[in-house]
Order: sequence, then structure tokens, then C-alpha cells
Amino acid sequence: MSSGTISKFFYPNSVAVVGASRDPSKVGYQLLYNLISKYKGRVYPINPHVSEVLGLKAYPRITSVPDDIDLAVISVPASTVPSVMEDCGLKGVKNVIVISAGFKELGTVEGIEGERKIVEIAKKFGMRVIGPNCMGVYVPKIGLNTTFLNPDRMDFPEHGNISFISQSGAFGIAVLDWAAMRGIGISKFVSLGNKCDVDESDMLDYLVGDEDTQVITMYIEGVEVGRRFIKSLKSTTPVKPVVILKAGRSEEGVRAIASHTGSLAGADIVYDAAFKQCGVLRAYGMDELFDMALSLSLQPPAQGMRVGILTVGGGSGVMATDAAVSLGLKVPKLSDATVGKLRNVLLPIASPYNPVDVTGSARNEHLLNAVDIMMRSGEVDVIIWIPYFMAPGITDELVEDFVSVVRSVNKELSTPIPVVGAATGGRHTLKLSTAVEKGGIPMYPTVERAAKAAWALCKYGQWLKSKGTFDDYLSRFSKFT
Ligand code: ACO
Repeated sequence: MSSGTISKFFYPNSVAVVGASRDPSKVGYQLLYNLISKYKGRVYPINPHVSEVLGLKAYPRITSVPDDIDLAVISVPASTVPSVMEDCGLKGVKNVIVISAGFKELGTVEGIEGERKIVEIAKKFGMRVIGPNCMGVYVPKIGLNTTFLNPDRMDFPEHGNISFISQSGAFGIAVLDWAAMRGIGISKFVSLGNKCDVDESDMLDYLVGDEDTQVITMYIEGVEVGRRFIKSLKSTTPVKPVVILKAGRSEEGVRAIASHTGSLAGADIVYDAAFKQCGVLRAYGMDELFDMALSLSLQPPAQGMRVGILTVGGGSGVMATDAAVSLGLKVPKLSDATVGKLRNVLLPIASPYNPVDVTGSARNEHLLNAVDIMMRSGEVDVIIWIPYFMAPGITDELVEDFVSVVRSVNKELSTPIPVVGAATGGRHTLKLSTAVEKGGIPMYPTVERAAKAAWALCKYGQWLKSKGTFDDYLSRFSKFT
């Protein structure tokens, strides 16, 4: 399959919505509504019972549309899907998303047979199918949205460089809403559903060459074509980081998966081994999935496993040290030369070791000078900074100045030093952390989450080095180089 075929799922020039309902409480209405709110391509509602939906001329069958159609989105009851698929084939449509539920996930003879028919028809006409039992795709860059959720009750994220592939539609959508609130941009979202045809391997093979995608994230339950998946992962991870949240770790979880998407989840230990072998960064929850994705999308990978901790509060420094060490990172002692340089610029009461504790009396310049010295020391590979914005000597200017020091030092270094932050606090802290993040330094509400984000940068850097692609990756990672 060529990547051109898959690309039509993300960049179609025209979309038909089969089952575009006139009833606002139905899936087919909301889907059409969401689609036409931002998408600028041609849209054709298909419904044999009406002549117009949401102000657009409706056609009784897809075969009656006079123009070419790149993508058909099907939202009719399961029993009608095969005949609609036949029509799509006759019309020459090559890309189909089947939103409808009621197939393999039911575990019934009819459900399994219905899904088999979809595959058979797709093969007959050379069509590619996402679904059934899915939400389809969301591509903010072109306003393409085939999901059917109520936009009055959720937000959709802006365009960004993280792509998210989800086997669960509902979880995927909740993540989109959350990402919008968190200010995380999305390149492509795909809900794969039952994966009767297009699966995560197809997505990896496409996204590895997608210029808009810097980091690939996935929520998966079961992968049926293990060998192919491993091959796709192996060719993707030396080029782009892949972060996966794999559900069904317990026996009970595996049972729950069978009734959700009908996938065979298999033993978790097998996935774990495969992920390690392929350089996948495994997340154990939604926070971790996006914490790691965010650091990888904003910061360059680290060239080693040594962490420098720069803090305004001693306790946080200790907790960050514990968190980093428990993840297998090193928190090295700094050399006498570096300690000496730090002493020269910090308050006498500061602790110039690692963690470097500038103390609650610190002013902006103490943090700025310290990060500069630590980054240039050659003794740490990644920095976790822990500002307390409520300290009396800290002003709002720290946000812009800190981002600017990190950027300018990294421009001078042959290999940039990634920086992530942890700022625990309330609304003022959140506001300032958000501003830091807008400047390209990811900020987390706890030191443990920041440590995991730093770990992802170290681990991925180590993987790139083992594959000989560290320098290639860095040169493509324009932001900090
Ligand atoms: N071609 C075009 N339109 C047709 C056809 C046809 N052959 N047959 C019927 N229609 C029209 C209907 O007339 C109706 O329009 P109307 O309301 O204006 O009359 C529209 O298509 C929808 O058909 P209905 O029979 O009303 O079907 P309904 O909307 O009730 O349900 C649906 C269809 C939404 C596909 C449902 O069967 C379903 O699968 N729902 C679940 C969807 C889902 O959850 N998917 C997974 C998401 S991922 C997750 O995890 C949540």
C-alpha cells in the first residue's frame, strides 16, 4: 500500500457523509456539523430521505454524486454498511471510515460476519478502511473532523506536532478535549476502532514520513499482526519517538478488551519485551503518555543519562533526585570547577552541588546564571528546573528570561541540553508555567512527572545513539539547534 492511499484519510479533497441525518440528536447529523465547521474541501451528505442537510444538497446514494469523492464516512446501522460499501466501491472511493458499531466487538456471528463482508468488499474494490466502530480522524491543520461529539461540551486542540492513534474512540476524544485545555497541539488523531483493515502498523508507516508529526503516541489494546507491528516500530523509532500506552496488563483487563474492540490482547510481558526491543517508550497512564510526548515534542533528546537539578526549594530537589534515580537516571556530583563557578554567582547560603539549590531568597539572576553554568558544564545531559514562582525575589520576567537563556546557550553548544521543569502550585504557578511552556520548555505539576519526561529524553537519546541516528534527529529538530 502506498502512503498516498493513507494520506487521503488525512488530506481528502472531498468527503461524503453516508447517513448524514437531519436529526440533531443523531450521530450522522453531529458528524456532518463538526466536519463542515472548519473543513474547506467539498462535502456531500448522503441520505435517501432528504434533499438537504445543514444547508448542503443531499444525495440519495453516493453513486449519485456527480464529482469524485476521496473519503467516505459511513454512519448507518451495521446491517446497511455492506451495501453502502458496495456503492462506495462502484463510485471509485478508495478511502472509507466506518463509524458504525455492531460488528466484531459484539462477539456475535452476525457481527463477525458483517465485519468479514466489509473486508471482502474493500478488497474487491481496492479500498482502505478505518474502523468499524470508530471515531475516524481529526486533522486540525485542514479542519478535517469526522468525530461526532458535541462541540458545545468539548474542545478540539489546535494544530501541533504530536500525532495520536487510539484504539478507543471515547478515550481518544477525551484526550483531545484534555489536550485542548492543556494547550497541547495535535497533528493527526486517528481512532482505529476494530481495525478490520487499517491498523497501527499502517499508521506508523505513514506517520514516519509525515512532516507535520514530530512524536507518535498510541493507545493500544491488542495488536494482531505482531511481526508486522515490530517491523514498523523498528523502522519508525530511529526516526521519530513512539510513546505507547498499552492497556490490558491484567488478566481481567484482557477480558475487558475482548468485549470492547474484540482484540486478542495477549500476555503483557510479550508487549513489554517487544517495546524494549523496538525502542518504544512505554507509558503506564494518560499523564505519562502526554508528559513524555510533550517533552519529546518540545525539547531535543539528551545525549546521556546524567540529570542536573536546579531548584528554589531543597525538598523538591531531594524528591526530584529520588524520582530520577528510581528511573535509572544519574544525578552526578558536579566538579569542583563547576561548583566554584556556581559559588561565584549564587548567594552564600545557596547549595552549589547537584541538586543546585538557589534557596527561597534567590532572585531571577541566580536561576539564570545557574542554568547557564550547568548547561555549559558538560557534566549533565538534561536539566530539571524547579522554580517557585511565589518566592519573594522571583518576578514574572523570569519566564521570558529563562526561556531565552536556555535557547541562546543551546545555540552555542554543539549538542543542546534539554530542559524540563516542575512547578508545583496553584493558579499563579499554572499561569507562569503555561507561559514557560509556550516558550518551548515543558512544565509539569510534580517533580516525579518532570523526572519521567526527562527520562524519556534520555532514553530516546540513548536509543538514537544505539541506532546511529542521534545527529540526524538533532539536525531535523530545528527548535533548539
Ligand atoms: N444511505 C444513506 N443514509 C441512510 C441510509 C443509506 N443507505 N439508510 C439510512 N440512512 C439515513 C437515515 O435515514 C438516517 O437519517 P435521518 O435521521 O435523517 O432519517 C441516517 O441515515 C441514520 O440512520 P438511522 O437508521 O437513523 O441510524 P442511527 O443514526 O440511529 O444509527 C449509527 C446509526 C450511529 C451508525 C449507529 O448504528 C451506531 O453504530 N452507533 C454507535 C456509533 C459508535 O459509537 N461508533 C464507535 C465510536 S468509538 C467509541 O468508542 C465510542
